[in-house]
Amino acid sequence: MSRTPARRYWLTGAGSGIGAAMAEEILKTGAHLAVSSRTVAPLNDLSLRYPEQVMVVAGDLTNSQTVREIGEQIAEDWGSLDTVILNAGTSEYVDPKQFDTSIVEHVLRTNLLASSYCIDAALPLLRAGTAPHMVAMASTLTYLPLPKTEAFGASRTGLRYLFESLRIDLAPEGMEVTVISPGFVETPPMAKDDFSMPLSWPVEKAARYIFEKLKDRPLEIALPAAFMATLWPLAKQPEQVKLEIGKPMVRSQPPSKDQL
Ligand SMILES: NC(=O)c1ccc[n+]([C@@H]2O[C@H](COP(=O)([O-])OP(=O)(O)OC[C@H]3O[C@@H](n4cnc5c(N)ncnc54)[C@H](OP(=O)(O)O)[C@@H]3O)[C@@H](O)[C@H]2O)c1
Repeated sequence: MSRTPARRYWLTGAGSGIGAAMAEEILKTGAHLAVSSRTVAPLNDLSLRYPEQVMVVAGDLTNSQTVREIGEQIAEDWGSLDTVILNAGTSEYVDPKQFDTSIVEHVLRTNLLASSYCIDAALPLLRAGTAPHMVAMASTLTYLPLPKTEAFGASRTGLRYLFESLRIDLAPEGMEVTVISPGFVETPPMAKDDFSMPLSWPVEKAARYIFEKLKDRPLEIALPAAFMATLWPLAKQPEQVKLEIGKPMVRSQPPSKDQL
């Protein structure tokens, strides 16, 4: 009897946080997984643990040439992809008192432009794949603006639009697109924030939840559930009410800045 071939995934941001936990979920199923992030060590560790399943395609995804080469490597080794999960990203905050456009540029480049390079590299591979599925990591901030998230929120809202528009264009080809909106998931970047994370989830729980939901290919996955139950009614309020919700949250901490 012929066996169904193992699914082929490309997961970005697989080196830490939600991506690293999702990599574990994917690999448990016996799937093949190409993993990206700038830091190579955690990817190599995965490859040592799952030598038959993992392909390391490390690099800076904000560099379009690097992403092109990653696509070429996957094409050479596998010839196709079935699922692409664009999870890599950065969360940096803007301090309106010292508005720093370099933060805006860096966040948009990492969270939005890099994803467009990945889409470009992935599309021909997905077209050669089986039941192709493209997945993007947005944020619940796209439902309700919060202070200091000007850059992060803009990048995630742009990303949402990019994928929702792409979903319409790709539907005739039978390609499905899911947008994931995490609220607060306990990962290293969240731990350094200067505010409490209401109704947050441990990263392993979030990864298990996302991976389970992805099997049904919904248009949207929003989590944690209890956080969403609180957020939804607020997100549907008039803009004036949203402004009043945000005002008490204004903080005076300087922005945290990722390595540029
Ligand atoms: N945790 C949350 O509550 C939350 C909420 C909303 C949205 N999100 C989004 O969910 C995703 C995962 O978040 P996380 O909390 O797990 O963050 P994380 O632990 O910082 O993981 C981000 C991953 O992206 C990679 N990355 C960043 N810049 C990159 C670049 N230029 N090229 C290649 N890889 C890059 C990082 O690896 P290197 O630094 O080694 O490159 C890392 O593996 C992010 O896109 C984040 O914005 C998270």
